[in-house]
Amino acid sequence: MEKNAAPKRSHRLVPKDNRNTVGENQVDNFKMRCEQVSVFYDNGATKAINSVSLDIGDNEVIAMIGPSGCGKSTFIRCLNRMNDTIEGCKVDGRIYLDGKNIYDKDVDVVPLRARVGMVFQKPNPFPKSIFDNVAYAPRIHGLVTNKSETEELVEKSLVRAGLWNEVKDRLNQPGTGLSGGQQQRLCIARTIAVNPEVILMDEPCSALDPIATAIIEELIEELRQEYSIAIVTHSMQQASRISQRTAYFHLGDLIEIGPTEQIFLNPLHQLTQDYITGRFG
Ligand SMILES: Nc1ncnc2c1ncn2[C@@H]1O[C@H](COP(=O)(O)OP(=O)(O)OP(=O)(O)O)[C@@H](O)[C@H]1O
Ligand SMILES: [Mg+2]
Repeated sequence: MEKNAAPKRSHRLVPKDNRNTVGENQVDNFKMRCEQVSVFYDNGATKAINSVSLDIGDNEVIAMIGPSGCGKSTFIRCLNRMNDTIEGCKVDGRIYLDGKNIYDKDVDVVPLRARVGMVFQKPNPFPKSIFDNVAYAPRIHGLVTNKSETEELVEKSLVRAGLWNEVKDRLNQPGTGLSGGQQQRLCIARTIAVNPEVILMDEPCSALDPIATAIIEELIEELRQEYSIAIVTHSMQQASRISQRTAYFHLGDLIEIGPTEQIFLNPLHQLTQDYITGRFG
């Protein structure tokens, strides 16, 4: 056999001009189910997401990948109605959390965003102390009732986020005074302090060094035992290490979804193949 020959595929790839989603987009034990989700910006002038349907399973990490501008952040922001905060942005379709459509009129977004927490690409600590950054939401949601409970929860959350040792002697200093990577771990501690059921992460490690990244990846694996996690990443190595399923987006379409190993080793769609082999993106 010719040296370095590509592995033989057992199937024909779906051609580029066929943009319907390929792969299994639903799972039996789903925590969230998205049906025909479309997102428009500029009061409907631009369509950023085109009728995407997918499930997020219990106890799974689902990775969202695709070229810059394909709509990954837009899509993930739908899952806790973060797009509501963007003027001129409109979301169509249905997204169920435990069977309830989170876009129903009677849904209060404040408890929704505690149940479906979010970690952004750019760390955004509150202009408060390190301690209060973590304690703020648990206090608001009534998860702690006294000082010692609050201290215990703050310490536990910072330990889990891999930040405790670096900040335990400076908890009263402002969160904004930490390094970028430390701020990101603070934001993760803040998110997990309210015990969310689903955690959305939009390129959470892009500002972190390899050691901090490894801590976060271990944390993600630990969190998966109890929660569901959707993570946007530009690192295919990271997606392979931490996710069980992967969704590949291209120009607002969900092109392919399936078990992570299959997406990276034996994709069904030509566009997925082009992306993972570095032909564009
Ligand atoms: N607030 C906004 N107002 C108008 N258009 C927007 C807004 N946010 C995103 N878009 C547009 O929606 C499309 C998808 O953007 P999005 O940020 O979701 O992509 P992405 O896949 O997250 O990209 P990246 O990998 O660069 O983060 C782009 O064409 C972008 O210009
Ligand atoms: Mg993005």
